[in-house]
Amino acid sequence: MSRVVITGGSGRLGRSLVTGLADAGHEIVSLDRAGAPELDRDGIAQIGVDLSDADATVRALTDARADALIHLAAIAVPFSAPEDVIIRTNTGIAQSVLGGAVAAGIGRIVAASSPTVLGYSAPGWVPERLPLDERTPPRPANAYALSKLVIEQTLAMLRRQTGDAVRYAAFRPCYVIAPEEWAGAVTQQGHTVRQRLDDPALSAPAVFNYVDARDVASFAGTLLAALHDIPNGETFFVGADDALAREPLAALLPRFFPGTEEVAAALTGTAPAFSTAHARALLGWRPGFGWRDQLAGDAAASSSADSAAARTAPDALRSTRKEQPA
Ligand SMILES: NC(=O)c1ccc[n+]([C@@H]2O[C@H](COP(=O)([O-])OP(=O)(O)OC[C@H]3O[C@@H](n4cnc5c(N)ncnc54)[C@H](O)[C@@H]3O)[C@@H](O)[C@H]2O)c1
Repeated sequence: MSRVVITGGSGRLGRSLVTGLADAGHEIVSLDRAGAPELDRDGIAQIGVDLSDADATVRALTDARADALIHLAAIAVPFSAPEDVIIRTNTGIAQSVLGGAVAAGIGRIVAASSPTVLGYSAPGWVPERLPLDERTPPRPANAYALSKLVIEQTLAMLRRQTGDAVRYAAFRPCYVIAPEEWAGAVTQQGHTVRQRLDDPALSAPAVFNYVDARDVASFAGTLLAALHDIPNGETFFVGADDALAREPLAALLPRFFPGTEEVAAALTGTAPAFSTAHARALLGWRPGFGWRDQLAGDAAASSSADSAAARTAPDALRSTRKEQPA
């Protein structure tokens, strides 16, 4: 078992990662400027630090005496701050944390990126092919997405400096749903899971992607264990096996992304727009949670009524520009 530093451990995704990896037997040090009472338990140390302070960060990373790092801390919601603040904050913290981890002698370094690097928030977006995967070229369309691409490139830069003695990977989690959110707590964008299913316009900006936070924790554990055995510097999408939608995306996508009729035709049944085949092939990982199981017994989950689908797609997308998924 490892000693793992997790930055942003008090956050929506961080709490599930911290508890999931602690339950798997890892010792966890969470570095976050905020505390989380539910993380007060054996095997988890919470250290308060402002990660935009590079000196304080490298001190905290050195004191942690960890052999692995998972970097989550960031402004996690596009357009939740001015664009210049988002790019400066996320890339600055990443440099402090990832560079600090190398300086502290941490041998396995993992960072959270985002599917948004692909640029599907751009007006008129039509991908060359679907499902989207790690070969799809990144074309960020806002400062948040650009900051995530810079974070991926920061890992590549550090690898050029250290060589393969240090192992690196990035992962792009889909729209994270924390366990309490299945029971009705609001998700990152302020609506419940059921509301996102009832009104496809809410999930369309994320191209109907999602992932249970516990699946991200299982992915992270699998990745950490494999980092010495897979090619260095890999990037992975981490998502559910299905789409967060009641209709096949072959029918739904063209309504919200005009011009995708041809490429979306492959997404029949419950197929998602984001492939996790790379994680399955390289790590043997696959997600264990899906909305149909989590909402089973709930009438709303199986409802086929979908009046909101009649909304005109471009208007729906415009109205959510300020609220785009991470
Ligand atoms: N939630 C999603 O759907 C989603 C999807 C894709 C990628 N991501 C990425 O995953 C990561 C975690 O997302 P989240 O939803 O848990 O975000 P969150 O906002 O819930 O948590 C972020 C945590 O980072 C901490 N933090 C931020 N700046 C800090 C600083 N300067 N010093 C110390 N701590 C700081 C915050 O206190 C918070 O606890 C982010 O990098 C985000 O971009 C999230």
